[in-house]
Amino acid sequence: MSFSLPDLPYAYDALAPYMSAETLEFHHDKHHQAYVTNGNKLLEGSGLEGKSLEEIVKESYGKNAGLFNNAGQHFNHIHFWKWMKPNGGGKSLPGKLQSAIDSDLGGFDKFRDDFLAAGAGQFGSGWAWLTFKDGKLEVTKTPNGENPLVHGGTPLLGVDVWEHSYYIDYRNARPKYLEAWFDSLVNWDYVAELHEAASK
Ligand SMILES: [Fe+2]
Repeated sequence: MSFSLPDLPYAYDALAPYMSAETLEFHHDKHHQAYVTNGNKLLEGSGLEGKSLEEIVKESYGKNAGLFNNAGQHFNHIHFWKWMKPNGGGKSLPGKLQSAIDSDLGGFDKFRDDFLAAGAGQFGSGWAWLTFKDGKLEVTKTPNGENPLVHGGTPLLGVDVWEHSYYIDYRNARPKYLEAWFDSLVNWDYVAELHEAASK
């Protein structure tokens, strides 16, 4: 399958003041578009043309760096837009997800601390994740376009810590971006949906 850029599921200014329209215009229209355009070029002749995006990500990892970087980032960003919503965040999580966070990660506050620390501690570009792996939740981080799919896990929530995600709004203050993102933007219903699908 060839890659195509999905529309944002909300208006460009819908996440302000936590993420500005200018950031979303650059991040979605320029950066994500570039992953789609370059990924499609690199997909041609790769032998993976007929595969799903998830398969392309997993099968190009460690073998075709150019294709992997773009396909990985395409996958990551498709979900990133859906991991946010206007009036998101808060501490009121769907019950099953909350129970799993309590039993696997020591409760919401500990999970929040660990997730933010993973994002702040990722040296250079990358992502912090809530991952479902081997029947339980874990907090992880990855560099560049890498994601939990290539480590045998399912990403349930991921935050983009590339500078293009926060520099216009927060300059170098990555921890401030991470707090605002987690507390005011996360779409917990989408996280719960992915958790439900992964834990069946
Ligand atoms: Fe990004």
